[in-house]
Amino acid sequence: MNNDNKPSFPLFTEAGSAETVNARIGPDVDPRTRQIAEAVVRHLHAAVKEIEPTHQEWLAAIKFLTDTGHKCTDWRQEFIMLSDVLGVSMLVDAINHRRPGQATENTILGPFFVEGVEALPSGADICLDHKGEPLVVRVRVTDIDGQPVAGATIDVWQTNDDGFYDVQQKGAQPEGNLRGKFVSDAQGRLWFRTVKPRFYPIPDDGTVGKLLARLGRNPYRAAHMHFIIKAPGFETVITHIFSPDCQYLDQDTVFGVKASLIGKFDRVDDADQARAQQTTNPFWLVEQTFVLSKAR
Ligand code: BEZ
Ligand code: FE
Repeated sequence: MNNDNKPSFPLFTEAGSAETVNARIGPDVDPRTRQIAEAVVRHLHAAVKEIEPTHQEWLAAIKFLTDTGHKCTDWRQEFIMLSDVLGVSMLVDAINHRRPGQATENTILGPFFVEGVEALPSGADICLDHKGEPLVVRVRVTDIDGQPVAGATIDVWQTNDDGFYDVQQKGAQPEGNLRGKFVSDAQGRLWFRTVKPRFYPIPDDGTVGKLLARLGRNPYRAAHMHFIIKAPGFETVITHIFSPDCQYLDQDTVFGVKASLIGKFDRVDDADQARAQQTTNPFWLVEQTFVLSKAR
């Protein structure tokens, strides 16, 4: 304070709000924490200045976040879904998985992966509820030079033909329905039987569902199968194969679709081939190569 009673330290003003808040950060804070805190405050204040919310609107925003927290349980993470539908999950993934052009791209993990599924022999049928159009998936795993990767483990999971994962319908679906783990052979190959994936809504009975409806957006994920491919010495790939004829490919609610991940689904109507693939005629056939880049 100087003698005309005017403070000589910075006080909060509308114009200098972010700078005043950031100036309070202590001198010994580690640089990364400082960088993050300063950026969040700067961008948050800039958004508030652009929006100029009323008190009522600001309280509605606080209530939205509170309700989002209340929706979270051990098996439901509404904040991750919020990040998903705002495109932030895909952005963080893109930043952290910049790979050589030939390598298979990542996409969103989603909340329905189950750790520790038992490995199945190649050729196994993962569809235990016998609903849907039969699909044979033949996979090759290679490095970026096209050399086979043997011993890669591949987790696969998808919804059933009603659009639900087994873990969403415990008791109603057989346990482990449409889930499997396979290991690539000496040629980097494996195959399995399943059903053609279909589009489905993400859980939309919480704040994220309300937000999507309010924004005139749909809650649907374009039809896909999930994969995690792991091999020693290579970067783990978390990815999908999308069905090319899905009506929601251009509107996937979590922005997971990438051109390179849209599969080629061939309709096969040939009894001999169906017998050879141990499936029923007609069936769908997908042949997919997953290309792994070296671990960094
Ligand atoms: C999924 O594909 O399983 C998923 C992804 C994001 C949110 C909800 C579900
Ligand atoms: Fe999914």
